[in-house]
Amino acid sequence: MVSKKMSDRINEQINKEMYSAYLYLAMSARMGEAGYRGIASWLTIQYHEEMFHAMKFYHYLQDQGSSVQLKAIAQPDFKETAIKELFQHVLEHEKAVTRSIHEIMALALEEKDFATVTLDQWYVNEQVEEEKNAMEILQAIELLGNSPQGLFMLNIELGKRSLGVPSSFLEIKGGD
Ligand code: FEO
Repeated sequence: MVSKKMSDRINEQINKEMYSAYLYLAMSARMGEAGYRGIASWLTIQYHEEMFHAMKFYHYLQDQGSSVQLKAIAQPDFKETAIKELFQHVLEHEKAVTRSIHEIMALALEEKDFATVTLDQWYVNEQVEEEKNAMEILQAIELLGNSPQGLFMLNIELGKRSLGVPSSFLEIKGGD
């Protein structure tokens, strides 16, 4: 059983993860419309990963006998259409998610809630990967040159990404 404060905080995080999914899906739509199908595909996979993150917390609350409370998901807030700026937004967004995940860890440690510490450790590690992915894409943009040819190559490269999480929510468990 987790505390009411922790349950509220995890429900808030479920909303943040679903917002992340919504944000990346909206970015994917813009990139697809602009003809960058590979980048759109990368962002759609990111959408699935964010839903995985949300559902892992969702199942955790249910496993703990806590109530899942789904709130309204905000409209995705981004204006960038240029690819470099778009991925700078992705990186800044992931840094904000990292801070939020660290807040949960701090609360879990304060409450000596070791089950949530263990769960949240998975997210702490995942955020290192999330920030690294965005940084590597920004580095690639620098190396390839922020040119039509460079972005065309990046588009092909990012289109090769495959889904690294279960595609069905039924396969997602909080503690796994
Ligand atoms: Fe769920 Fe991209 O962090």
